Amino acid sequence: MEQTLSIIKPDAVAKNVVGKILSRFEDAGLRIAATRKMQLSKADAEAFYAVHAERPFFGELVEFMISGPVVVTVLEGENAMSKNRDLMGATNPKEAEAGTIRADFAESIDANAVHGSDSVENANIEINFFFAQKEIC
Ligand code: PPS
Repeated sequence: MEQTLSIIKPDAVAKNVVGKILSRFEDAGLRIAATRKMQLSKADAEAFYAVHAERPFFGELVEFMISGPVVVTVLEGENAMSKNRDLMGATNPKEAEAGTIRADFAESIDANAVHGSDSVENANIEINFFFAQKEIC
């Protein structure tokens, strides 16, 4: 069964829509294999987003991701990575299709409610970044 990593970002946690977002995953047939609410440190966020270190928005992205708690979740199911990306909608919520998580809960490209792994290979790396194998059931 394929696994992917989701992060409910600080804007969506602050809006108190964690349960609504997790329900979207379950309603689409994905299972929650592990989940945790946590406060990322600056070092955590910089390491997680290291691939974007050269991009102009890197500093803002890191500051945003440490501005409040996040909920990290391992989602499991058939085609979990691409299914999650479909549920999320486009990076910029203004371009996200109606009914997607970002269209419904996000305000802007920098506060866009959710992160999802963008490949199965990256999903494994991202899952291992946050979870020990014994935490994934
Ligand atoms: S994606 O989904 O990886 O293809 O999107 P990408 O455009 O490559 O963006 C990578 C992450 O950077 C965030 N992002 C931004 N943050 C702040 N300001 C601006 N302008 C901005 N543009 C993109 C975007 O939300 C992606 O974060 P994650 O957590 O990976 O979704």
